[in-house]
Amino acid sequence: MTRAAITGWGKCVPPTVLSNADLERMIDTSDEWITVRSGIKERRISHVEPSEMAAVASEHALAAAGRDIGEIDLIIVASCTSDSVIPATAAHVHRLLGAPVPTAAFDLNANCSGFVYSLINAAKMIESGMHSRVLVAATERLSALLDFTDRSTAVLFGDAAGAVVVEPTEEDHGLLSGFVQMDSSALGYLEVPNDGLSGMPARSLEPPHGGITMNGREVFRRAVVAMGDLSVRAVAEAGLGLEEVDLLIPHQANMRIIDATAKRLKLPSEKVYTNIHAYGNTSAATIPVALVEALEQGYISAGANVVFAAFGGGLTAGAAVLRWGERTEPLGRSEASLAPTDRSLMELLEANFRVYGYPEKLR
Ligand code: COA
Repeated sequence: MTRAAITGWGKCVPPTVLSNADLERMIDTSDEWITVRSGIKERRISHVEPSEMAAVASEHALAAAGRDIGEIDLIIVASCTSDSVIPATAAHVHRLLGAPVPTAAFDLNANCSGFVYSLINAAKMIESGMHSRVLVAATERLSALLDFTDRSTAVLFGDAAGAVVVEPTEEDHGLLSGFVQMDSSALGYLEVPNDGLSGMPARSLEPPHGGITMNGREVFRRAVVAMGDLSVRAVAEAGLGLEEVDLLIPHQANMRIIDATAKRLKLPSEKVYTNIHAYGNTSAATIPVALVEALEQGYISAGANVVFAAFGGGLTAGAAVLRWGERTEPLGRSEASLAPTDRSLMELLEANFRVYGYPEKLR
């Protein structure tokens, strides 16, 4: 039986840090409030397009899999913060990686559930024989959509990219189960109003233009239910008992949502990987970045049963169970990195202030 396994993994986190202390100097908030309500301490602000972060993460994933881009026949880019509407971000990633003409590429926008949606799609295409090696890159430049006059959302999001190479295996590992869903009755609870140019407002739109808006309580309530339900269902579908789960890698949106999901799966904290304190909510990128760091830090051993669980705008949600293979070390390493920037944090955020207005303490 052919299954789909992750054979390579990579991440790209931009160097510029926006800390809770920085936010305290801009808006009426506190490190304590942000930490207690969300678990976030700092997040990254990108100086490049989503495709450039995706390309760097992908180079690392390809090296880890021991693959050349010419051996990939499909690229899926999970993102809600595109470089451009036309062409898709996947086209930019394809170009940056030097992919040959027959390699297919498309964007998949399932908001913060984008990686889980993409991983399941990649796996099913491999299982069906339609594609033989798929690169899934999740990349987000959410900072472009942040309105720093709205303290309830500005403190939660950041930028990053993560990527995995997915390949067929005949062995007893790979994706065991996966579910995705959409609850459009909650469509208005998390949105970028009037947004026709996802990812572009901070560069090109004139005010008035809305940044991310969210009904935090409603999203929280529904996220806890959806992530818990789908995770439990995915574990059962994989033929596993809850006690056989070795690691939960959840979408990193809020520490309290993560804790609630872990509780539904009856998992102790050492079986839950979190890095929300370092990057905040980077939407589709949170899970692949966390996967890379979990591997680097020895959280995943050969044969481990790993649960991925996510929710996001839409409201989308998804969960998947993957049994890890033998190899937990990369086959090779890439030197790829982002071009450096000499722009300061405030220079990077200035574009937001011009579009959405200056935050209260900087007015
Ligand atoms: N700093 C300080 N105070 C803040 C604040 C900030 N950054 N943001 C909001 N507040 C205030 C509110 O104004 C409110 O004050 P009030 O009681 O005087 O009106 C108070 O804090 C409580 O606000 P509330 O929205 O009820 O807080 P909460 O406990 O629901 O936590 C979230 C807010 C956003 C952290 C929480 O709802 C959440 O995480 N929701 C899920 C969001 C999410 O994960 N979205 C991503 C989906 S992929």
